[in-house]
Amino acid sequence: MEEKLRNIAREAQGELDGVDNLVNLEALRTAYLGRKGRLIYLIRSIGKLPPDKRPRMGKMANRLKVELQSSFDYVKDNLLEREREKKIREEAIDVTLPGISFHRGRRHPITATLDEIIDIFSGLGFKLEKGPEIESEYNNFDALNMSADHPARDMHDTLYLRPGVLLRTHTSPVQIRTMKKQKPPLRMICAGKSFRADTADASHSPMFHQLEGLMVDRNVTLADLKGILTRFVHQFFGEKIKLRFRPSFFPFTEPSAEVDISCVVCNGEGCPLCSQRGWLEILGAGMVDPEVFKEVGYDAERYTGFAFGMGIERIAMLKYGINDIRLFFENDLRFLHQF
Ligand code: DAH
Repeated sequence: MEEKLRNIAREAQGELDGVDNLVNLEALRTAYLGRKGRLIYLIRSIGKLPPDKRPRMGKMANRLKVELQSSFDYVKDNLLEREREKKIREEAIDVTLPGISFHRGRRHPITATLDEIIDIFSGLGFKLEKGPEIESEYNNFDALNMSADHPARDMHDTLYLRPGVLLRTHTSPVQIRTMKKQKPPLRMICAGKSFRADTADASHSPMFHQLEGLMVDRNVTLADLKGILTRFVHQFFGEKIKLRFRPSFFPFTEPSAEVDISCVVCNGEGCPLCSQRGWLEILGAGMVDPEVFKEVGYDAERYTGFAFGMGIERIAMLKYGINDIRLFFENDLRFLHQF
């Protein structure tokens, strides 16, 4: 019995030396020290020895078992340590390798231009309002004092979805929507898409963007309009730029003006961009027509206001020196990546 115990223990130690991974180690442990393992099996049979032999044998068997167990633990610790080191080696990062470059998204130049303009007017106390691209003929035309026989209402110019409903031809209907739900004083801007039945060429696109502004209060004058627009132009195009107000006509403003800025390329000297004129038209504006106030229920005796509207593509083309409006909508990355 004693001999057998020693042999098993020796064999186990011998096999243990050759184990080089945790799976094999566990298999070996089961084979010797598991419930049905060889050593455990033998230890159980001690109970069958004559009573006077049992204590000595029991003690020895136990000692061998404890020794073997600690040998297993020792080998297990070693193997775990080796695996950890191997993992660290494999996961080591070579910080000298070149990085992986990836494409970063960026704002479309129209979005960036809009954001910049909105920022400037926000700083001047104008609140951003919203309106839908699908509009009623009433908001888009009638309420803005554009009578039924106004040429712009023709099917040739306007994209009608069904009688009385159309794709808005400008952002001015948002003025009507805002005034109908808010009482003066009011300072609003709105920005978004407008649609006209135009054929695309270098300066026309059937879809384009506008930014609209409206201020209504007591004693608002043309001087306020000039002040606000001058502030905007100086901040957006630079302090050197001059403004010129040319008398014009819009049904919803009286008086009306078209606003020019001194040419951003030649500074007014005359060049191909400004067709030798020295000036570039950037927006339409005017004092809100009392007819419009009447339509939205504002008292035209108490309040006055100014409004303006500008084409964003045109503004962006002037700022960035782009000569064809279609470039904005072709989404050629070689173009878009320049902004
Ligand atoms: N809605 C006009 C257009 O699309 C632009 C415009 C002119 C807007 C004068 C205004 C304004 O608010 O006062 O051509």
